Amino acid sequence: MNILGIETSCDETAAAVVADGRTVRSNVVSTQHELHEKYAGVVPELASRAHLQRILPVIEEAMTRAKCTFADLDAIAVGNRPGLIGSLLIGVGAAKALAWSIGAPIIGVDHILAHLHAPALNAEPIAFPALGLVISGGHTTLFHMRDALHHEILGQTIDDAIGEAYDKAATILELGYPGGPRVDRLAQTGNERAFDFPIATLDKSRCDVSFSGLKTALLYAVRGTPVGRGRNSTFERDASMLTEAQKADYAASFQRAASRAIVRTVKRALKRYDGADGNRIRSLVIGGGVSANSRLRTECAALASAFGVELRLPELAYCVDNAAMIAGAAAGRLARGDVDDLTLSARPRR
Ligand code: KG4
Ligand code: ZN
Repeated sequence: MNILGIETSCDETAAAVVADGRTVRSNVVSTQHELHEKYAGVVPELASRAHLQRILPVIEEAMTRAKCTFADLDAIAVGNRPGLIGSLLIGVGAAKALAWSIGAPIIGVDHILAHLHAPALNAEPIAFPALGLVISGGHTTLFHMRDALHHEILGQTIDDAIGEAYDKAATILELGYPGGPRVDRLAQTGNERAFDFPIATLDKSRCDVSFSGLKTALLYAVRGTPVGRGRNSTFERDASMLTEAQKADYAASFQRAASRAIVRTVKRALKRYDGADGNRIRSLVIGGGVSANSRLRTECAALASAFGVELRLPELAYCVDNAAMIAGAAAGRLARGDVDDLTLSARPRR
């Protein structure tokens, strides 16, 4: 069963062919980081235009690398929610045109849940029930997954997504965009106890997280408290006055606080939901760009082993946005004959 996946929800134009939901036959990702770097964030109009220019060559490349013809495809899957509406529309439009022209079924896929399928690519199926954690530039959400098709949200960020906080930390430290990998790399050489950054204390009956206070704490630590009021306020200093070693200390201390916030919340969820409905949690499944983070990978491995659950992390290529996770996530629905039709629409929210 071959599914062509298409993904254009943010700033990566991606297409992939996946067989039987797990075997990746090709995975093509064209990132637009160079277009958005000078704005230190994704500019929606630029993203949609770049998707339009790239989508057909990216699909062709995915088909060629998979040594596949359109006649070999059993379905077209497309990430149709959530995301930037202009970007989603390009992928959904391309998927519908292709599905119509080759007479294949179309399946709209939730981008966030697709991130939780990424650890199953080129790997064993996930053992359920599971706790699912999506940590990316746009999302920080914890799910209870009874199986691949039933999910319940246990908690989420009440402000910034963790990847967004990483990207802002990189901007504060003048490291460039996208910031997550750069902060992660620099943190390896720093002293993580140089600064004691705060972790927000939230309602303990929930499994939510917050990252905006951490981001502001880093901002004030690096630049000093603002002088003056409102629009006219200025900072005492900026990151250009820091040595590389000082920047590394900030990065390491930020990374320690960010991963402690996540680990603490996952631990709370494991304590609360493991066995709560009579079933033990068997896996901790993590996906999204920040699942590439070295410290989180190590800390989550320790946590999973302490609770006796299996940690499922994606290969690095499937952490960030990609279309293989979209194609893979659609396979269960195709197998049950549960497909969409050409009225499928793009949705900015889930
Ligand atoms: O999943 P993704 O490609 O896009 C969204 O769906 O948002 O995630 C991108 C995010 C960016 O914020 C990027 O800085 C972050 O993932 N990221 C990392 C690392 N690699 C990527 N954050 C921390 N450490 C990393 N190693
Ligand atoms: Zn994503």
